[in-house]
Amino acid sequence: MIVIGAGGAGLRAAIECSAMGSKTALICKSLLGKAHTVMAEGGVAAALANVESEDNWRTHFQDTIFGGKYLNNWRMAEIHAKEAPDRVNELEKWGAVFDRTAEGKIMQRAFGGHTYKRLAHVGDRTGLELIRTLQDKGIHQGIDVYMECTITRLLKDGDRVCGAFGYWRETGRFVVFKAKSVILATGGLGKCFKITSNSWEGTGDGHALGYEAGAEFVDMEFVQFHPTGMVWPPGVQGLLVTEAVRGEGGILRNNKGERFMEKYDPKRMELSTRDVVARSIYTEVKEGRGSPHGGCFLDISHRGAEYVKKKLPSMYHKFKELADVDITKEPMEVGPTCHYAMGGIKVDAETGASRVPGLYAAGECSGGMHGANRLGGNSLSDLIVFGRRVGAAAAEYAKSAPALRIDNAQVEAAANEMTGFFGRANAEDPYKLHIELQTMLHNLVGIFREESDLTTAVAKLEEFKKRVVNVGINEGQRMYNPGWHLCKDLRNMLICAEAITRAALLRKESRGAHSRLDYPKYDDYWGEHNIVSRKNGDVMQVEPCPVVKTQELLPLVEEKKAKEKK
Ligand code: FUM
Repeated sequence: MIVIGAGGAGLRAAIECSAMGSKTALICKSLLGKAHTVMAEGGVAAALANVESEDNWRTHFQDTIFGGKYLNNWRMAEIHAKEAPDRVNELEKWGAVFDRTAEGKIMQRAFGGHTYKRLAHVGDRTGLELIRTLQDKGIHQGIDVYMECTITRLLKDGDRVCGAFGYWRETGRFVVFKAKSVILATGGLGKCFKITSNSWEGTGDGHALGYEAGAEFVDMEFVQFHPTGMVWPPGVQGLLVTEAVRGEGGILRNNKGERFMEKYDPKRMELSTRDVVARSIYTEVKEGRGSPHGGCFLDISHRGAEYVKKKLPSMYHKFKELADVDITKEPMEVGPTCHYAMGGIKVDAETGASRVPGLYAAGECSGGMHGANRLGGNSLSDLIVFGRRVGAAAAEYAKSAPALRIDNAQVEAAANEMTGFFGRANAEDPYKLHIELQTMLHNLVGIFREESDLTTAVAKLEEFKKRVVNVGINEGQRMYNPGWHLCKDLRNMLICAEAITRAALLRKESRGAHSRLDYPKYDDYWGEHNIVSRKNGDVMQVEPCPVVKTQELLPLVEEKKAKEKK
């Protein structure tokens, strides 16, 4: 079986598959260890109750559902809250070196929207430690790793998935993987937007591969803008400034020196949920109270140099080296950056199975777990909880799946798609089109949205779809050719962008990360999901569908709702 994507979810899934005796190939677009998982810096959320003994899975579940504005897949949120502590302890057993409490337990810190100090962490390099640990475990377990390989198409045998087609980035040569089950774990789509914490790999590949193979999306309109990315210098704009800065006591101020979160969420202040903090910063800037480079100030200097360097070593070095700012003495300038897609491939809560037989998804490219807004730290726990489950389910499926057949016509079509980007007359420049797409989404489908902008965005996307057909490069060859790679990545990004925009247009309310200026009200009813699927060949369709309210969980959710209303 194959796992596409080697971040936390892909690695954890591959470990489980191979532990179950499946021959497992892990395919990564870049080098092993270089995944967006490392950008979850501040910690992994799990109700270990090491620092605050009142914590338990129920409160974690309630916080997650409240943060997601009740639109989460409740069963996924339950599984996640219940299983996260075991997965974190397992990481420790496999060699992760967490920060410690005085009694030697795994240390936990505060993060936005979490009632208790819940984030197990390794300074501000938690994602990196998670990847390092899983990588060591996976390699020693004998997983086959294929690096710098981009998958461009899933192959099907009738309704079933039967493998994947791709190319080696180094040589440009094509490759076919045959597999009884395929796990998508490709992460996010941040590169659709102009300012993002995502690096070049985040082009929505798994989302697009799944969609084109017949899977559905759920709730694509919910895109998370992390409140704090670097805003200056321009070359590092969007780079993540971990929420752990606020978790460790960092204070946000505008250019008047006002602690503006007092206005927007006096109860939680800087530790409000990300959607609220991002909107607050955006509003301060828009109303003329921003910092010199279009953000706001985040100050942790009051905690003292020794504490800051110990708890936030990466932040200290990042600002010193990249912006010449000593964060132990002066504030940082920060602003919202596109960080995470809550929407993704619709999967079964228990197994991560999509509606396409043999096709599974885990981590950011899957949807449902985080509802309308993800809590910080819930992504690392999501990756390890559902990575393990999906790995087990896909391996089980592969054991009993009948033999399959690769269809040469599909392979040939996939190869033609990639070679077709060369030598086109009057080809569209992929770089130019990419910038246009990013700017358009940023301006029209960003933190605040409204009907007229979204309608314009849909029209723009229709135009981009026509232009992308003719995207190409006239020079160079298949060896190390990023322009060629971008041609295909662009097609993936356009699928994601269209799904985000169409779903945003349909959702006539404000909820979590989706803020409509023309429908500012959050009705506090249960809400509906937006399901995106491909109909009649190539038409993207969005349809609402009700939230499943698990009866056993309803009292917990009602309790939280009542508490938050007070
Ligand atoms: O701010 C952060 O460290 C990011 C964490 C996350 O996205 O979960």
